[in-house]
Amino acid sequence: MSSKIQFSSKIGLVAATVGSAIGLGNVWRFPAETQGNGGAAFLLLYMGCVLALGIPVMLAEFAIGRAGRSDAIGSFRVLSPGSSWWIIGVFAVLASYLITIFYMVVEGWTLEYLVEGLFGGLYDGVPADAAMSEALFDSKMAQMTQTPFKPALYTALVILLNIGVLLGGVQKGIERLSNVLMPLLFVILIALCVVSLSLPGAAEGVKFFLEPDFSKLTPAVFVNALGQAFFSLSLGMGILITYASYYPSTTKLPRTALIVSLLSLLVAVLMGLIIFPAVKTFGLDKNTLEGTTLVFVTLPEVFSRLPLPRLWSTLFFSLLLVAALTSTVSISEVAIATLQDRLKWSRRRAVLTALLPLLVLSLVCSLSFSTLSDVVVAGYNIFGMLDNVTTNYMLPLVAIATCLYAGWFMPRGRLRSELSNYGSLRSHVTGITTMILRYVAPLLILMIFVYNFI
Ligand code: PHE
Repeated sequence: MSSKIQFSSKIGLVAATVGSAIGLGNVWRFPAETQGNGGAAFLLLYMGCVLALGIPVMLAEFAIGRAGRSDAIGSFRVLSPGSSWWIIGVFAVLASYLITIFYMVVEGWTLEYLVEGLFGGLYDGVPADAAMSEALFDSKMAQMTQTPFKPALYTALVILLNIGVLLGGVQKGIERLSNVLMPLLFVILIALCVVSLSLPGAAEGVKFFLEPDFSKLTPAVFVNALGQAFFSLSLGMGILITYASYYPSTTKLPRTALIVSLLSLLVAVLMGLIIFPAVKTFGLDKNTLEGTTLVFVTLPEVFSRLPLPRLWSTLFFSLLLVAALTSTVSISEVAIATLQDRLKWSRRRAVLTALLPLLVLSLVCSLSFSTLSDVVVAGYNIFGMLDNVTTNYMLPLVAIATCLYAGWFMPRGRLRSELSNYGSLRSHVTGITTMILRYVAPLLILMIFVYNFI
């Protein structure tokens, strides 16, 4: 297994992992959750969850992947041959594939908004009256996402784009893409932040976002903060196991986990600094900022009130596309690595086998808002069903099992040896990480799980 492909540079490996972590989770889920859960108090809790729980669980996945040097299923088989632990990997691969199906649809909408904002009529005919302009953007969103043809077309385009990147392989595809796009993402974020912070309502928005009101804290807020931390660090999806199997043995895992988590937090905070000043300034904070409407209704409305709407729109939707693309590439890699490692397939065959079916599956999913909107199970359309089953049930289950495995069952000493780079780093993290993996994390994640059931 030593001939296994690796990332070629430290920067590239961090960029790819950060690219996976930064996604719709930071850009739209975080601001919406923050607004719904009381602002700054939620932010603090979320930070606490990332640092105290997210990092240890990330380290567990890193250690499993790098020690196993194989895909999400194979790594468990290598580490504990003859046991059934590899079933965790099966769940991770399955969950990540189901997530890919609906995530591609959102990525498709993002490309559609980018194109329509730049060349199309997204900003045509906006009335001065606030109530009317909101209705207009609502109806534009319905036209752009809830009709059969265009969303399906753009979803197909982003799938082809992903295939193109992934065919390039780990170094020339994923790593090169991340090296270019991640710096770009930060440049765009900072530009948008400057614009938003110079709006007249900025102070009020920042206050809501950064001044905690602890009376708002409830168990529900805590559960949401934990769920947000897990989703946004890409935990429980097999991604970090797969990427860590490409890490050279010199990569310092604790430091990498810290950098990735802090950058992901930074993006979430910058998004807050972009969104809250803008929505306060234009009085759009009365409505609940649910994820999709925040991005596809509220923000276009904000841009339409600024000078040069097309410029801001292009910047923002490019940002969202970059965030989404580096995430879908990483999550697709889970299935691809599995096919390559388990079945010894060529890269090309694995990429095409994993992604071409999405041209049907994601397209069907994209129709859940139009032609197939009558297909409803337990109150969810196809898209909602995939989202709910994966994020609320499968990811927490995989995460709990991963913690228990790394904390109790992984061959003794393997966790420590990975975290300390085979003894060459003095590591104070192993002890505390093991404690958290054994007791704290499984219990707390179980809480999210139970809470979602009732
Ligand atoms: N961390 C990612 C995000 O915030 C989670 C994710 C990764 C989701 C890859 C889908 C695909 O969006």
